[in-house]
Amino acid sequence: MPCLVVTSAKGGVGKTTASLILGTEFAHAGYEVKVIDCDPNRSATRYFRACNENGNRPERLELVEEQDKSTIVKTIRDLDRDGTIVIVDLPGASSQLMSRAISMADLVITPTKPQKVDSEIGYETTELIREEEEVLGRKVHHSFVLNETSYVASKEAKGVEQGLVAQGIDLIKPDLTKRVPYSWLFTFGGDLRTMPPHSGTEKAQMQAALFRDAVLERLTRILNEEAA
Ligand SMILES: Nc1ncnc2c1ncn2[C@@H]1O[C@H](COP(=O)(O)OP(=O)(O)O)[C@@H](O)[C@H]1O
Ligand SMILES: [Mg+2]
Repeated sequence: MPCLVVTSAKGGVGKTTASLILGTEFAHAGYEVKVIDCDPNRSATRYFRACNENGNRPERLELVEEQDKSTIVKTIRDLDRDGTIVIVDLPGASSQLMSRAISMADLVITPTKPQKVDSEIGYETTELIREEEEVLGRKVHHSFVLNETSYVASKEAKGVEQGLVAQGIDLIKPDLTKRVPYSWLFTFGGDLRTMPPHSGTEKAQMQAALFRDAVLERLTRILNEEAA
C-alpha cells in the first residue's frame, strides 16, 4: 500500500488541489485510491460532495472522512491493501496529526507557491521531517512540487526553484501551473476529463498525468528499496 502524505506548514499552497489531482489521475489510471481528509475545513470532503451532487465521482476514488491525530495511524493501517493508494490531505500547520501521518508515509509531498516567502515556510516542513526521521530512526522520503506557477517562469520563481534544488530538495516535475480546470475540481467534482470545456483543459490533463507518473515513478523506486 503506497501512502502519500501531502503536507506543508503553510495553508493555501495547494495541498488539497495536489491531493485531488493525484487522486483523480491515479483512479483514472486504474488504481484504487482512498483520499483521507484530515483537514477540519474539509476541503477534500467538499470535492466529494460536488461529485455526489453531480453524480460524477470517479470510479475507484473514495473519501475517508475527517480523521484526527487519534485515528489517523489506525485508519492508514486498516487501508493497507495491496495496490490501494492512500493519499492523506493534511491541514496547513505542524501538529501531532502531521507527525503521525508522516510516520506512515512512503512519500511526503509538499506543494509550494513559487514565491520566496512561501518556499521558506515550505522549507520549514523539511526541518519538521528531519525531526520525524530522528524519532522514527528511518529516512522519510520527501519531495516538493511548485504549484500555481505561471506559463512563463518569473525571476522570483526561478530563484525559488534554484534555492530548493541547491538545498538538495527533490523537486517533482512538471510543476502544477495555475489553471482554472484545477480549481474547477472543487466546483464540478469529477475529474479533468468530465468538467465543462475550457481552453486550459487539455494542457491540465497532460500536466496532471505527467505529475502522476512522476510521483508513481518515485513511489515505485521507494517501495522497491523498502522491499530490498
Ligand atoms: N494549480 C492551481 N491552479 C488553480 N487554482 C489553484 C491551484 N492550486 C490551488 N488553487 C486554488 O487555491 C486555493 C487553495 O488551494 P488548496 O488546494 O485548497 O490549498 P491548501 O489545501 O494547501 O490549503 C483553492 O481555491 C484552489 O482552487
Ligand atoms: Mg487543504
